[in-house]
Amino acid sequence: MKIVFATNNKHKLEEVRQITAALPIEIVSLAEISCHDDIPETADTLEGNALQKAHYIKEKFGLDCFADDTGLEVEALNNAPGVYSARYAGEAHDSEANMNKLLSEMKGKTNRNARFRTVIALLLDGKEYLFDGIVRGIITTDKRGENGFGYDPIFIPEGYAQTFAELGNDTKNKISHRAKAVEKLNGFLAQMLISK
Ligand code: IMP
Repeated sequence: MKIVFATNNKHKLEEVRQITAALPIEIVSLAEISCHDDIPETADTLEGNALQKAHYIKEKFGLDCFADDTGLEVEALNNAPGVYSARYAGEAHDSEANMNKLLSEMKGKTNRNARFRTVIALLLDGKEYLFDGIVRGIITTDKRGENGFGYDPIFIPEGYAQTFAELGNDTKNKISHRAKAVEKLNGFLAQMLISK
């Protein structure tokens, strides 16, 4: 069985392939189906964006597929930047600028609770399924660490004293929002294969 993962992000692809390695399923990227489109992500929720991307591929290529969307939700900011995490400081999708903006919005705030949330939308055999993964933590007051990407240098996951960027990918990939959502997808696909 072949399923398209609507991404060209090598890191995400590798992570998903590792977690689903025991399943007789081939996960293929957009490049592998020769899709080089700039897929629209114009919904105002993570669920909406993940579904929008998955439906785009299903409609254009007729293939079963899944897509993900992630946001950082900060309690003291009414869950911003959320679905707008990538472009919080503008369309340039600049992580440094995004973190600077967030740290400045958080200046003086005592409630530093936040969570990363990933939603995966799967379109399979004509049906739609959603899976989510959450990791809770706090926003630091300054950037720490060199690993990872996005908001990793300013997020400390619950139960740890270091940021995602200090913890490194091995630890992060075991506890992350994305890993949790992919584990749920993996469990679902495994069950579905057993019951077929
Ligand atoms: P995407 O939906 O995976 O592209 O994520 C949207 C945005 O959320 C990214 O551009 C990052 O700014 C942020 N983000 C997503 N996942 C992570 C993560 O694991 N660490 C830090 N930031 C992330």
